[in-house]
Amino acid sequence: MDSFDLIRSIPIFSVLEETALSKIVDIGLKRKYTKNSIVFLEEETGAILFIISTGKVKVVRTDDDGKEVILSILGPGDFFGEMALLDGLPRSATVVALDESELFIINRREFLNLIESSPQVAISLLRELTRRLRKADEQIENLSLKDAVGRVANVIIQLADDVGKIKKGEVVIEDFPVQQDLANMAGTSRETISRTIHQFMRHGYVDQRGNTLIINEYEKFKSIFS
Ligand code: CMP
Repeated sequence: MDSFDLIRSIPIFSVLEETALSKIVDIGLKRKYTKNSIVFLEEETGAILFIISTGKVKVVRTDDDGKEVILSILGPGDFFGEMALLDGLPRSATVVALDESELFIINRREFLNLIESSPQVAISLLRELTRRLRKADEQIENLSLKDAVGRVANVIIQLADDVGKIKKGEVVIEDFPVQQDLANMAGTSRETISRTIHQFMRHGYVDQRGNTLIINEYEKFKSIFS
């Protein structure tokens, strides 16, 4: 996808006219990241907005013992790094490239100019931030109210919504995270992840082929567990 099509496909910018879209393409830059490279670290100062052109990234927080929690996995068309630009505080999380990725970057001043000059961009940005807050609220509920099986199911649903591909009622999640990452996301142990996924497989809810997970009847799975 060229930069113009990329920018046009992003909900926060899709409201803009062609000239404004071309201007963003002119002011931005493309950067390549290799698999597992760090885009930035939590607590760094930040002056850049990132838009994912190709690849996937994980947004993580790490505690003092080095234990990592994945807050979200973002893919093509998603943006990140807006929080430090908006409130001037350090980066709220670390972002790591999960694949070889190409990111389109815009500096803080240009990003703020866009928001100041276009109320539609501001509203679209608020809509996306609201969506993320709703999701974070669901994660809080998931972690505090559900039992371990429910938490594992909800992590699978979260991944399906973030990066899954829908095919005739089933959802395919490629590059399904390793069991320790899933455990950190679900607030449980690696053993519970292994046991629960096998239980889901026995019930025919999911299939696993290598590092791809398939949810056989996604709507049914969702209605049982969310
Ligand atoms: P910033 O704080 O600048 O750097 C880390 C980025 O991760 C942050 O901006 C957001 O873009 C992104 N981020 C933080 N928390 C979440 C979340 N819960 N869901 C999705 N993205 C997030």
